[in-house]
Amino acid sequence: MLSTTGSDNVNVNSAIANATQMTPYNTACPYQNNSIIESEEGLPFHIICGWDLAGYGDYFPWGLDYRPHTETMEECMELCAHAHPLCLGVGWNSDLTAGYGNCYLKNSQVGNLVADSYHTHVALVNLPSIDACSSITVPQQILSNDKTFNVTCFEGRSGSSNITSVYSANITGCIDECATYNGPESCLGVFYDNSFADGFDNCYLLNATGSANAPFNSTYAELVSDNSNPTSTSTSSASSNSTDGSSSSSKAWIAGPVVGVVAAVAFVALGVFWWRKRRSGQQQDVKFAPLARNSPPPDKSVVLAELPQQHNVSEMEDLNKRQAGYTTESSHKTSPYNDMLNIFRRMMSSIPRVPIPANGVDYRGKIVLAPMVRSGELPSRLIALKYGADLVWGPETIDRAIMGAVRRVNPRNNTIEFTRIPSNSSKSADQLPKESVIYRIDPENEKGKLIFQIGTASPEFAVQAAKVVAGDVAGIDVNSGCPKPFSTSGGMGAALLRTPDKLVSILESLVREVGTPYKIGISVKIRLLETPELTKSLVTRLVATGITGLTIHCRTTPMRPRERAIRDQLSMIAEVCRNAGVACVMNGDVTSRDQALELMKEYNVDGAMIATAAEANSSCFRSEADGGLLPWRDVVKDYVKEAIRVENKFGNTKYLLNMMIKAKDKAGAQAKQSKNYVDVCRTLEFDDLLPAAVEVDKILGLEMKGVTSKITEKETKPSAVQNAMENNESAKAAGISGHIKKQQSNVQHGPGPIRTTSARASVPNTPIETDVDLSVLAAPQQSGVAV
Ligand SMILES: Cc1cc2nc3c(=O)[nH]c(=O)nc-3n(C[C@H](O)[C@H](O)[C@H](O)COP(=O)(O)O)c2cc1C
Repeated sequence: MLSTTGSDNVNVNSAIANATQMTPYNTACPYQNNSIIESEEGLPFHIICGWDLAGYGDYFPWGLDYRPHTETMEECMELCAHAHPLCLGVGWNSDLTAGYGNCYLKNSQVGNLVADSYHTHVALVNLPSIDACSSITVPQQILSNDKTFNVTCFEGRSGSSNITSVYSANITGCIDECATYNGPESCLGVFYDNSFADGFDNCYLLNATGSANAPFNSTYAELVSDNSNPTSTSTSSASSNSTDGSSSSSKAWIAGPVVGVVAAVAFVALGVFWWRKRRSGQQQDVKFAPLARNSPPPDKSVVLAELPQQHNVSEMEDLNKRQAGYTTESSHKTSPYNDMLNIFRRMMSSIPRVPIPANGVDYRGKIVLAPMVRSGELPSRLIALKYGADLVWGPETIDRAIMGAVRRVNPRNNTIEFTRIPSNSSKSADQLPKESVIYRIDPENEKGKLIFQIGTASPEFAVQAAKVVAGDVAGIDVNSGCPKPFSTSGGMGAALLRTPDKLVSILESLVREVGTPYKIGISVKIRLLETPELTKSLVTRLVATGITGLTIHCRTTPMRPRERAIRDQLSMIAEVCRNAGVACVMNGDVTSRDQALELMKEYNVDGAMIATAAEANSSCFRSEADGGLLPWRDVVKDYVKEAIRVENKFGNTKYLLNMMIKAKDKAGAQAKQSKNYVDVCRTLEFDDLLPAAVEVDKILGLEMKGVTSKITEKETKPSAVQNAMENNESAKAAGISGHIKKQQSNVQHGPGPIRTTSARASVPNTPIETDVDLSVLAAPQQSGVAV
């Protein structure tokens, strides 16, 4: 028998589960592996059978405050297709081993596919692309069903309620929906979300015209005359009468529609669908028919080999364990009636969310690598990602350093390089000026995961600089926390905390001129102010600028890095962010993934950022369950391998090695004296990396600088090949002769043609190591950086 104990007899929900409710469903994947399946409205899902999603942004859509249970994967996908804000995929647990709530809705596609031990199948959304509204593509007036609509680009609406929402591929189709809508309320306009930020059902039919609201990637169309019915006249008076919002129960933040209402409408419709199905017991009423364009499923082992490696098993297991509790509360809610009751409860207190743009990323649930000048260059970011960082911030780059940089793709490793000629480079007539790489991106491995941090004190410069990289990153972050004089003397970094008007203006400009057109998020990283009141008032202003995320470094500006982070303002800051729909990321003395998860729970923040712990050993992003911290040698080897592959500046690599190598190790101490990559590989005995080291030293012009002995031919061969050559005739039989096979080197030969955005014949193909490092010029390097 269940009973309540102590004084808490009010907040306890108890119920005994009906054991039959936990009967597992058929565990076989209901669709062909790797096929594309469309929802009723045409949302394509990519099916991945027998895998699970870890770190993919578990969330509850508006209108739901618990994980839904569905009898079929189809129902789970249907929930996703109608969810607000946007659902980007599902994991469906067929056998209920992870708990009764078996339909895991995801609002992010950043995470890891993990081998599944719970009979889970995955469906990832392939969002169709929709153009932004422009006066060229969209006429100012559209006639539909004898009704005329005036169209305005980049406008939202407040003071109106949604009658319903549906998916529409364009504004014309959306207007058609309104013009032909035949329900109890009149449709007087539409809000069309060109970014799907708030859901795939992106065409919101409005019951009032309301008033103009914050611009983002949306289109507003207002009914101005109606000739479809002889008795009807101009709608303008009716429209204006209803703009006071008195009939509206709008609570949602989103510019315009009351998404909570939409969510309710969608979920009610879905509830009816669900209820009907349960009563009829027809599980096989298939709405998701495999598309004709399905290609035959490739051999599963091939598909799986292409999937990302497993990093976050424990996180998923934790989540599963939490769900597996089959709590009395969730069992209490399993009837459709109670589902709907909760939906309406939720609707009344709908949580606002600043929409996450289509090419952006939600910081919620993420454990991320901090921006670090020097320590956050590409190889460091890549190994952080390898060890499980969900997102990575690049090092602060000053606006003027990146403005005017040339973007090009390095054909040897496919990284994107932003290069420029330093102002103090060689001026002699017979020498071409030397280029310097300001910023380097790995578009494949950093896709959707890289945040570019900008140092700026000017809205105009910030916008110009951000536009240079906006097409290649998932977000732009403004550094408003660096306390060093090089930053603050120019009005940047922590100086912006003292000039909130300027900071607000920078963020608003970036949101409007970069975030919206490039569909990426804008965020800010700040420090604590002297008092909670001051911090609160600043954060309140910042979260109203349209940013999607705010990182709080829990130290005040005068505090040194070694001083313990102060966390007593954290919950308050998180609440201010939450109320505005902005993700809050905590920073300061976070040292591991497991600790980060605990802190996020304790302070109710959305994400956590790690700096110095990751600088020393970025395997801190691995949870204990995944093996935890690796020995420094393993991490250094991974780092050197990436540094060679991406042709990282040797000076920067050496700096990082100094931070990573434990001082007492003899080989490590020698490695610190290295003058090129070959030196590093020799002293640390990374023999298999030597051939690639030889190549990269040539490319960077370092081959003559080495301090270790002359390179022997032996060292230019991978050790495995060398061993095979010396000991095993089968190597020769396999065609491995006396020369090195090209593909065995991490670095491919030959500079090859370099694609650049501007054709400058005089630019040398290969960026050369220069004494002047512009990214350092951007934010000068010093020991004990306290940014
Ligand atoms: C080497 C180094 C470089 C840094 N560079 C930046 C930077 O470019 N931008 C920034 O906002 N913070 C920078 N920081 C600050 C960190 O991002 C972070 O806020 C700070 O180190 C506190 O986190 P922690 O306690 O995990 O180290 C840097 C910190 C270090 C150690």
